[in-house]
Amino acid sequence: MGDFYQSGDWKGEKHVPVIHAPEKVKAGEPVEVKVLIGEEIPHPNTLEHYISWIKLYFHAKGAKFPVEIGTYNFSAHGEGDLFTEPHVVTRFTAEKSGTLLATSYCNIHGLWENSVEVKVEG
Ligand SMILES: [Fe+2]
Repeated sequence: MGDFYQSGDWKGEKHVPVIHAPEKVKAGEPVEVKVLIGEEIPHPNTLEHYISWIKLYFHAKGAKFPVEIGTYNFSAHGEGDLFTEPHVVTRFTAEKSGTLLATSYCNIHGLWENSVEVKVEG
């Protein structure tokens, strides 16, 4: 499965999920994370071509598996002339430093991924 995930620099590749999170946070305190597609180069958002979902995970240093923070589905693709934007703001708390991992799915161009480090200080 991992072979199917594509990545790149989000400034040059419109599919790569852009993750905005603080570099340093305090243990147990809510961390606000914004994940979106197409910050630098907009991705199409039409009935035929759209971002279907974003998933966000946190992999704490030394942990065997990442933990899923959330799955965000973008459901409107033109019905009633309405389009959901692939843009999510959420919060989580962590006790250990680790990596935020975001994955996304374009109905035409498949699976994409990105990650950022978050330092958690006691
Ligand atoms: Fe696409």
